[in-house]
Amino acid sequence: MTTTPTRTLGTTGPQVSALGLGCMGMSALYGEADRGEAIATIHAALEAGVTLLDTGDFYAMGHNEMLIGEALRTAPAARREQALTSVKFGGLRDPDGGWTGYDGRPAAVKNFAAYSLQRLGVDHIDVYRIARVDPDVPIEETVGAIAELVEKGHVRHIGLSEASADAIRRAAATAPIADLQIEYAIVTRDIEREILPTTRELGIGITAYGVLSRGLISGHFTQDRQLGATDFRSFSPRFQGDNLRRNLELVEALRKIAEQKGVTVAQIAIAWVLSRGEDIVPLVGARTRERLTESLGALDVTLEAADLAAIEEAVPAGAAAGTRYPAVQMAHLGTEQ
Ligand SMILES: NC(=O)c1ccc[n+]([C@@H]2O[C@H](COP(=O)([O-])OP(=O)(O)OC[C@H]3O[C@@H](n4cnc5c(N)ncnc54)[C@H](OP(=O)(O)O)[C@@H]3O)[C@@H](O)[C@H]2O)c1
Repeated sequence: MTTTPTRTLGTTGPQVSALGLGCMGMSALYGEADRGEAIATIHAALEAGVTLLDTGDFYAMGHNEMLIGEALRTAPAARREQALTSVKFGGLRDPDGGWTGYDGRPAAVKNFAAYSLQRLGVDHIDVYRIARVDPDVPIEETVGAIAELVEKGHVRHIGLSEASADAIRRAAATAPIADLQIEYAIVTRDIEREILPTTRELGIGITAYGVLSRGLISGHFTQDRQLGATDFRSFSPRFQGDNLRRNLELVEALRKIAEQKGVTVAQIAIAWVLSRGEDIVPLVGARTRERLTESLGALDVTLEAADLAAIEEAVPAGAAAGTRYPAVQMAHLGTEQ
């Protein structure tokens, strides 16, 4: 096994690999994925020393958890034992794949967890979090229910996802919080204003998603890419028409910096998030071994002050055209209110 550097999630969370593998795209939201390749990618990640596997019970309605379950079952015992699962719950779906709200009631939390443990085939979940704070349930009640699962040994640590600074404080006053999962990228820096100072004050780590802005700043996305109707990017503002054209210009500016360093755009984008602090663990959404290898290469990229200044000049904060979610989903983000 290769030695992958590690980071610790907050002052109370687990030690994890400095890059986590986000498995969502292996089941949902970015078009068709190859199941065999997805499992091979999880195995390759574990082999390379990646320990953190992120999922949500609502990613294709349990499909993603069952996929991870199969990958864990078929991995060598030593690799399986090093794997840590980070699971989101609470997102409600309908049989057509529609999104119908969030449920953070204590009885629902325990119900969700019971099903996730079965689908993953594990005896505990390492980090458990509600995907979006349920506006109808005080966060103290949702977190309190997870704390009961911790007491019983079904969950090891409590996390949060896209919560507001106020919700983070209230959650942390209820029980120890390991990490906040939230979008963070060169083109998505909203968390720097209020969220990061809050998590740092409270000793809460960050697992950053969307570090490639859903592939937009991966260096592989093109203006003429055809997207299926259920692909998140087919309705994401950043991927529409003129916004996409302007955003891909930013990518070309990043490409010049990457080429000078002899690395790829995706590696620059991941290394930038890694450079923002030891408390931050980027989740990469690789669905193939090829993309995984590219992502892991970011761990060897050191961004000097001059590189960071060049990135800042090429893509200043707020440079991206379009919001990171469609308006209806923006409304669920505690961070943006
Ligand atoms: N808490 C939340 O609200 C939330 C929201 C979204 C995601 N997440 C979690 O965060 C994880 C990562 O998010 P994300 O998938 O949106 O992040 P991302 O890494 O920004 O985007 C992944 C997309 O980038 C493309 N890509 C191109 N080059 C890549 C490379 N070298 N490595 C990886 N991907 C590359 C992939 O497309 P191709 O495969 O087509 O190349 C993939 O579809 C998810 O899997 C999920 O577990 C959490």
